[in-house]
Amino acid sequence: MEVGSVVLVWWWISLIPRILSDPSDEACLTNLSKSLEDPNKLLHNWKEENFAKPCNDSSSNLRGAICNNGRIYKLSLNNLSLRGTISPFLSNCTNLQTLDLSSNFLTGPIPPELQSLVNLAVLNLSSNSLQGVIPPVLTMCAYLNIIDLHDNLLTGPIPQQLGLLVRLSAFDVSNNRLSGPIPASLSNRSGNLPRFNASSFLENKDLYGYPLPLLRNRGLSVLAIVGIGLGSGLASLVLSFTGVCIWLKFTERKMALEEGKISHLMPDY
Ligand SMILES: *[C@@H]1O[C@H](CO)[C@@H](O)[C@H](O)[C@H]1NC(C)=O
Ligand SMILES: *[C@@H]1O[C@H](CO)[C@@H](O)[C@H](O)[C@H]1NC(C)=O
Ligand SMILES: *[C@@H]1O[C@H](CO)[C@@H](O)[C@H](O)[C@H]1NC(C)=O
Ligand SMILES: *[C@@H]1O[C@H](CO)[C@@H](O)[C@H](O)[C@H]1NC(C)=O
Ligand SMILES: *[C@@H]1O[C@H](CO)[C@@H](O)[C@H](O)[C@H]1NC(C)=O
Ligand SMILES: *[C@@H]1O[C@H](CO)[C@@H](O)[C@H](O)[C@H]1NC(C)=O
Ligand SMILES: *[C@@H]1O[C@H](CO)[C@@H](O)[C@H](O)[C@H]1NC(C)=O
Repeated sequence: MEVGSVVLVWWWISLIPRILSDPSDEACLTNLSKSLEDPNKLLHNWKEENFAKPCNDSSSNLRGAICNNGRIYKLSLNNLSLRGTISPFLSNCTNLQTLDLSSNFLTGPIPPELQSLVNLAVLNLSSNSLQGVIPPVLTMCAYLNIIDLHDNLLTGPIPQQLGLLVRLSAFDVSNNRLSGPIPASLSNRSGNLPRFNASSFLENKDLYGYPLPLLRNRGLSVLAIVGIGLGSGLASLVLSFTGVCIWLKFTERKMALEEGKISHLMPDY
């Protein structure tokens, strides 16, 4: 081979990552755009013909997408009034490091398939209407730094496996419908402070335990039991007293009536 053709081949090879489409990212974007609804048409360029080659080096002409080395590594689609659901095939965007779908109107579950996003560091799905449980398998995303799921309709317990995510620096599941105890691995004290404080857990239907304030705990405190005892005692006293009063009034009136009747029947002298 001539030197010239070797150089040419080398040049072509070096272009491959930029030119070739990535079938994984394409499957990810195609499926995601199908599962999302975009009533305000804010997802500029999210069209089928752009999904095969979404990346142009580090930039992308798809709104909200940022690329690195020809692969999508950031999707920030927050506050776009999006509806619909999160496609499980989002997991085909295997280089994804940031997934921010916060402040939309998304429904349905958090797909457990997200576990294959092994580079994921930021997961922000806050302020949507997501339902179902927090998938325990998210613990497979070992680089997770941020899990923000606040303000959704999530149910079930907080998976204790999430406490194994050593890089986790922000965790917020407040304002959901979660239940059960707060895993010690997430509330774990270091010194006097919990790993994540009460603000991460507030406003849930049936969640209890440290670091939430005691009165939110499910077990009735001694104070509450005493209070209920005193309260019901007082209530029954008031009730029976009222009962007696009513009975007295009633019989009084009856007697008065009868007296009236009698005096009416009595001839006047
Ligand atoms: C997308 O992910 C699914 C499920 O993990 C897998 O079966 C499929 O082969 C992937 N598609 C591509 C194009 O990578
Ligand atoms: C979704 O992704 C799967 C897996 O790669 C693929 O087979 C399928 O064609 C995609 N669906 C659409 C609508 O693109
Ligand atoms: C690639 O990016 C450059 C600079 O950002 C831009 O001028 C060019 O139009 C882009 N090409 C495509 C195909 O998006
Ligand atoms: C969300 O978008 C609306 C309108 O598009 C804008 O008024 C509002 O400030 C945005 N909110 C945030 C937090 O960016
Ligand atoms: C998640 O996104 C919301 C806005 O959409 C933002 O207010 C919040 O700070 C983000 N969470 C984290 C932990 O950065
Ligand atoms: C609490 O955290 C420390 C270090 O941060 C760790 O060594 C310990 O095992 C944790 N305890 C529990 C119960 O998770
Ligand atoms: C709880 O933690 C959050 C985030 O780490 C912090 O902004 C807030 O000030 C803390 N609140 C209290 C009462 O310590």
